[in-house]
Amino acid sequence: MSYLFPTYSRWEVEPEHAEGSIIIDKHGKRYLDFTSGIGVCNLGHRPVSVQEAITSQLSRYWHVSNLFIQEEQENAARRLAESAEMDCVFFANSGAEANEAAIKLARKATGKKKIITFENSFHGRTFAAMSATGQDKIKTGYGQMLETFIYLPFNNIEAIKKELDDETAAVMLEIVQGEGGIYIGEHAFLNEVNKLCKEKGALLIIDEIQTGIGRTGKPFAFQHFQLTPDIVTSAKGLGSGLPIGAVIGKKELAHFFGPGSHGSTFGGNPLAIAAATATMETIFQTEFLEEVRKKSSYLFELICMELKKIPDIMDIRQLGMMIGIETSIELPILLKELRNHGLLALPAGMNVLRLLPPLTVTIDEIDEAIDIVQSVIKKFSQAAV
Ligand SMILES: Cc1ncc(COP(=O)(O)O)c(C=O)c1O
Repeated sequence: MSYLFPTYSRWEVEPEHAEGSIIIDKHGKRYLDFTSGIGVCNLGHRPVSVQEAITSQLSRYWHVSNLFIQEEQENAARRLAESAEMDCVFFANSGAEANEAAIKLARKATGKKKIITFENSFHGRTFAAMSATGQDKIKTGYGQMLETFIYLPFNNIEAIKKELDDETAAVMLEIVQGEGGIYIGEHAFLNEVNKLCKEKGALLIIDEIQTGIGRTGKPFAFQHFQLTPDIVTSAKGLGSGLPIGAVIGKKELAHFFGPGSHGSTFGGNPLAIAAATATMETIFQTEFLEEVRKKSSYLFELICMELKKIPDIMDIRQLGMMIGIETSIELPILLKELRNHGLLALPAGMNVLRLLPPLTVTIDEIDEAIDIVQSVIKKFSQAAV
């Protein structure tokens, strides 16, 4: 019997060692990791620059508390704010905590209660982040949710026009709904939301927890569009695997988060900050992101070429290194068979195979992974005929 609460259905794989895009298990079996620790290890496993930054900080101090000035925390906040073209940062420890803080900030800054989120969205597991989430399966059994949230269909301009009014504190959305099934926000819809928020005085909160830190080929996914968010939340890839989350906001919001108004004992921990600083240093380089966009296009074209004609494939969606393959093959069985063939991949929504390779993945690794995907899917498709 396990002493862990069974909140996760765990795979049969027990890692022994990991480097780059590869995980080796206790039995010496090699896996190509196209999960990146669920969108976290954007630089692959154990990138040297991050390892060195953490080690160097370890030899100085690793916790003092936020009562102290810490130059590294200031620098990390500046780097993060600049990359999002914003002004202020609050450091938390996870995505849900970052969203929780963003929700509090929006309610305090506007003095209003109503926050619009979207069906199929995912914003985390704390009570407010869970309430914000537009998926019933996440909320089952927990009783009444916070009444703050109204859920609208994603990419539906008419619905947002009808609902976004003077009473609205904020609209909160993902540019690509990751957990929900890799549904990508449409240009016209996102622009309309942006415009309506300005007209009605509502804040635009963009949840970049899965899409940010280079995952889509830009520092943040909203930068593919002409959007001007008031608050952006980040986590996952920010610390390359060390726990860190962040709320990034406009300077007009700063005074609503004055001393004592919000906090976190561990938020902005020196080791997590060292990891985040080293991560941003690499990922926010123009050439690095260009390379990510090139490899993403290669990956998408290859997947389309290999899979589009298979009847069990209904749709293929992609923004950068976020890929969703909608399929009629039962997901747990498909994922297990991919693992048997040495490829780790994720589910999303009800019927979407999700690939989140490290941004450092090589062309050879992409070829190897897609070869496995197409041969396994073809095998299932033929068996069904
Ligand atoms: C878009 C989005 N928001 C929030 C979260 C929650 O982040 P965390 O698990 O770090 O609390 C996730 C996690 O998958 C996410 O994808």
